[in-house]
Amino acid sequence: MGLTIYKNIGAIVGADPNPLPVKAGKEMNELPVVYDAWMAVAGDRIMEIGSMATFTEMEIGGACHVVDLDGEWMFPSFCDSHTHIVYAGQRDGEFIDKIHGLSYEEIAARGGGILNSADLLHSTDEDELYRQAMVRVNEIIGKGTGAVEIKSGYGLTTEDELKMLRVIRRIKRNAPIEIKSTFLGAHAVGREYVGRQSEYVDLVCREMIPEVGAQKLADYVDVFCDTGFFTVEETDRILEAAHKWGLKPKIHANELAVSGGVQVGVKHGAVSVDHLERTGAEEIEALRNTSTIPTMLPGASFFLGMPYGNARGMIEAGLPLALASDYNPGSSPSGDMRFVAALGCIKMRLTPEQSFNAVTINGAAAMELSDEVGTITPGKIANFFTTLPQPSIAYPLYAYTSPLITHVWLAGEKIY
Ligand code: NIG
Ligand code: FE
Repeated sequence: MGLTIYKNIGAIVGADPNPLPVKAGKEMNELPVVYDAWMAVAGDRIMEIGSMATFTEMEIGGACHVVDLDGEWMFPSFCDSHTHIVYAGQRDGEFIDKIHGLSYEEIAARGGGILNSADLLHSTDEDELYRQAMVRVNEIIGKGTGAVEIKSGYGLTTEDELKMLRVIRRIKRNAPIEIKSTFLGAHAVGREYVGRQSEYVDLVCREMIPEVGAQKLADYVDVFCDTGFFTVEETDRILEAAHKWGLKPKIHANELAVSGGVQVGVKHGAVSVDHLERTGAEEIEALRNTSTIPTMLPGASFFLGMPYGNARGMIEAGLPLALASDYNPGSSPSGDMRFVAALGCIKMRLTPEQSFNAVTINGAAAMELSDEVGTITPGKIANFFTTLPQPSIAYPLYAYTSPLITHVWLAGEKIY
């Protein structure tokens, strides 16, 4: 097992010997930083962190690889708990429609949107779908992401949903990044079932979920519980059916309207409820004293011109908050988690510490991975990136388009 020592690290951000599994309320203000540090990595795991003042090369001996970071900063890899990065082609035509004034709902109602992606996915074979998805996986790795959740939901037939989930499984096996897989058959009503929504929900419950469950193709189940998509009652049925297969929910809620999605998610013990652009005091109340992590996707608000979720309200109420990219072709064609964290500061008025916690440890928690990733902690997977020396924690989110990342390591291996 190779030992690597990184020395002369300007700062290790998120260096936490005893990290909480998730940070809530005031805990989100704490982002530990060790300045002028060294770190030892053994194989794929972080072994030890120390201050350069206590560093002696003699102690380490010769049987290790030493990397001199010469003042560069180190950050834990981003943990992106909500994406749709397995898709075919793109939807840049709808980008033009939006410029001309059509809303996301209007595009969907015309048979565009998610159904457009489903048509493209149907006519794309599995190898090509994998190839296109891997381009995005490599893109987000280069931008600092080290753990990602990927959803199905552009199949909308049993066969195509399984095809997507097999592609996610293949990515899991081949890419150096941590992956969680989510079945999102109820993303929209498949074309053949338009006008017969309840029959489509039956198909999801009686055919898709048992197949996905039996083949162990997903970690979680998701439903787009929102106006124009699936109702609370339908969501309830789907989550019930998924529970029998051990699929915990992570659901799309309150993006387009106050949908009741938060409450139904909480009722079923959801790991997270995501989007939350339209939430008020009742949703905050529903989330109190639960283990469900409110997750916001400011990239979708940015791209679709929607309101931003009440992030500060959630934190002030003592709740945790995760931020994720929602990388998808329709509402957030970007998986840049630094930009997501910057939007957290610029548009949601989070402090840089809160925003970094939201895109690292709390994102990890929203994938049930906080024992493994999300902080720089001895024992956790050595997933981190280095940057040019920074004047402050705030700077990388303030100067949000300046090139930043110098190198990326995943599971102790230098990737870029
Ligand atoms: O999270 N809101 C639902 N699903 C995606 C968008 C999917 C699409 O338009 O392709 C989202 O925003
Ligand atoms: Fe989404």
